[in-house]
Amino acid sequence: MDASTNKVNYRDLIPRKNGFVFKFIKVGEHFIHTYTEGDFHDRIGISPSAIIGKTLFEFLPEEQAKQKQHFYEIAWSGKTVNYEGSVNDCFYIASLSPLIVDSKVVEVNGTAIDITEEKKNERKIQDMDKLSVIGQLAAGIAHEIRNPLTSIKGFAQIIQERVDQPDVKTYLIIMLDELERMNQIVTEFMVLAKPHEIIDIKKVDVNKLIRSVIQFMEPQSLLKKIRILTSFECSITAFLDEIQLKQVLINLLQNAMEASESTKNCIEIKLKSIDDQHYLIQVKDQGPGMPLEKQNRLFEPFYTTKENGTGLGLLICKQIIDAHKGSIDIISRHGEGTVVNILLPKVFS
Ligand SMILES: Nc1ncnc2c1ncn2[C@@H]1O[C@H](COP(=O)(O)OP(=O)(O)O)[C@@H](O)[C@H]1O
Ligand SMILES: [Mg+2]
Repeated sequence: MDASTNKVNYRDLIPRKNGFVFKFIKVGEHFIHTYTEGDFHDRIGISPSAIIGKTLFEFLPEEQAKQKQHFYEIAWSGKTVNYEGSVNDCFYIASLSPLIVDSKVVEVNGTAIDITEEKKNERKIQDMDKLSVIGQLAAGIAHEIRNPLTSIKGFAQIIQERVDQPDVKTYLIIMLDELERMNQIVTEFMVLAKPHEIIDIKKVDVNKLIRSVIQFMEPQSLLKKIRILTSFECSITAFLDEIQLKQVLINLLQNAMEASESTKNCIEIKLKSIDDQHYLIQVKDQGPGMPLEKQNRLFEPFYTTKENGTGLGLLICKQIIDAHKGSIDIISRHGEGTVVNILLPKVFS
């Protein structure tokens, strides 16, 4: 405590960044904050002046204020209490210590540390748990489903070519579409089953790889009347797992096409060398884009806004790019479109 200003140097009390210290007293039935300071205020967007002289109910939503008031009561009864709290998506652990003079609590001192990062990691671990269960299931059943699916699809195709009745032909087209969708879901699950394995690193012509993916997607893009343009600034050869990188590009183009369905604007794929060791693949669409809340959730397993989505496409992309020691960034503007940047090393080590 600095005697001249009566100010607590809260950094002495809190062993890490982004904490805060506070004090309160009880006046009648109300707990009134008499002091607060710390970096955490900037993070939560509530300034000390909005807290000092106020009760919890004056700066927090009612539910949160009630929850905290409960701990304030315990502290005011003379007990030290620790609790986990959150304000505006920031999490902290607070500790309340009553100051007792002549057997009476006269003030409560609170210290809090920011645990937002830890909370985020906890959520990630929970997500990974979900994934590993799915992965095990996928490994077991995906092959079993894919084999009969391939023969059903093959026979449906033969029948479709041979029948003359237009209505039956239409049914078969729908069947083939649905079978393709089933195939796609199973394939995505299979990739998830072995997400971290780089199976087959080879020297690959990246320009050629991108062209072959575009060719593969062409029937769909023609059908949807969406053009896929390329802008290659150079030729790049790199060491990578060709099948996995194709999977990444297919997933990204699929998303870009789904986003461009209503506008019909073209999609652009750029390839450029960044430096001696790195190159960039960029997939850009002029679809509806996404607000920030949505962007924050893109790599969560099963996060989808589509009726028939799996919510696994981008997660798979990230796992593959991570395994290649690259990075994937998504920049989107609501109403303007989305840009996905993939930065990859030319040599795999
Ligand atoms: N290019 C894009 N434009 C707009 N939204 C996108 C784009 N790419 C992905 N998204 C959003 O991210 C979500 C997750 O994508 P993804 O992981 O591929 O799963 P899915 O496509 O099965 O929904 C999508 O449901 C969509 O809301
Ligand atoms: Mg997708």
